[in-house]
Amino acid sequence: MPEDMNINAVRDSFRESLAGASTLQELDDIRVKYTGKKGTLTTLLRSLGKLPPELRKSAGQELNTLRDEIEQDLQAAGRKIRDAENERQEISERIDVTLPERGRKAGAFHPVIQTMHEIVNIMQGLGYSVASGPEKEEEYYNFECLNVPSWHPARDMQDTFYFADGTLLRTHTSPVQIRAMHEYGAPLRIVCPGKVYRRDNDVTHSPMFNQMEGLLIDKDVPFSVMKGTMSEMMNAFFGKSLRYRFRASYFPFTEPSMELDIECVECSGHDEHCRVCHGTGWLEVAGMGMVHPNVIRAGRIDPDKYNGFAFGIGLDRMAMLKYGIGDLRLLFDGNVSYFMSGFEGAGKC
Ligand code: DAH
Repeated sequence: MPEDMNINAVRDSFRESLAGASTLQELDDIRVKYTGKKGTLTTLLRSLGKLPPELRKSAGQELNTLRDEIEQDLQAAGRKIRDAENERQEISERIDVTLPERGRKAGAFHPVIQTMHEIVNIMQGLGYSVASGPEKEEEYYNFECLNVPSWHPARDMQDTFYFADGTLLRTHTSPVQIRAMHEYGAPLRIVCPGKVYRRDNDVTHSPMFNQMEGLLIDKDVPFSVMKGTMSEMMNAFFGKSLRYRFRASYFPFTEPSMELDIECVECSGHDEHCRVCHGTGWLEVAGMGMVHPNVIRAGRIDPDKYNGFAFGIGLDRMAMLKYGIGDLRLLFDGNVSYFMSGFEGAGKC
């Protein structure tokens, strides 16, 4: 091999440049430098003719081998650089499809549903289970079993939505008392939240509203358990210790019957112009009483062995009081922005 054809030196310098290359452009420059028209290797190949014939063949073979080597090495290096670039791009463009959409507003429970959950939770803590019954109810459960005689004004067509077949939209959640007694017998502790319907539609009444019924049946239940349960429930719901007033009242399904007033949660009785209690200092929140023996009997339980108490609360009213909503109709119209804004100023007078 002639001195000026030091193929190993060319190979070494090629490898050195290749090791230092990190872009496709640099690889291309190297390719041009060695195998381009005026490249080192091309020049050497061209000068083969000047060699003595006995050396020409082996030198030619060596140069061709080196040219193949250079081409393969350049291709391999090119692939490596492209792979690395692709990977970098893939990582930078990677999309996490599990991420939540941007600027999305979190949903919230309707305040009445939230109120329902809160009270159900409180009552479950006191050992009550949740029972349910149909909204399209029979007159028998809605009235008869509850000691509401056929002449009672509550049965009036003016108050109740009747279907042609004589069934009706339940006017209260009280029929669930009877259904629960039939299903579970005594002793019994249930609450039943749900929709009820009456022919009423004005600022303070909606034809559909929400109630929660409660019923406890056991042996020798004293009146004080009812008072304790009701005050416990209200304190837990409003998150403070309130003053109470139990007023004598009348319901056909309880005897004696009471209504519960709580201290005004807005002004505690200190504001004679209070928009919530209108200066009375008291809020009427529930009807209740010791279950009438006729109702226990209608529930197929012996009233000589068992007694108990029942209560009914208006969930919409409870929600309005707790969340400061001034207009009942806001709860049932479709304006979601009130809910999103946490009812700020909604319907306040
Ligand atoms: N059902 C009554 C109403 O709709 C509320 C009620 C009062 C339920 C007294 C009761 C109760 O269980 O004992 O106005």
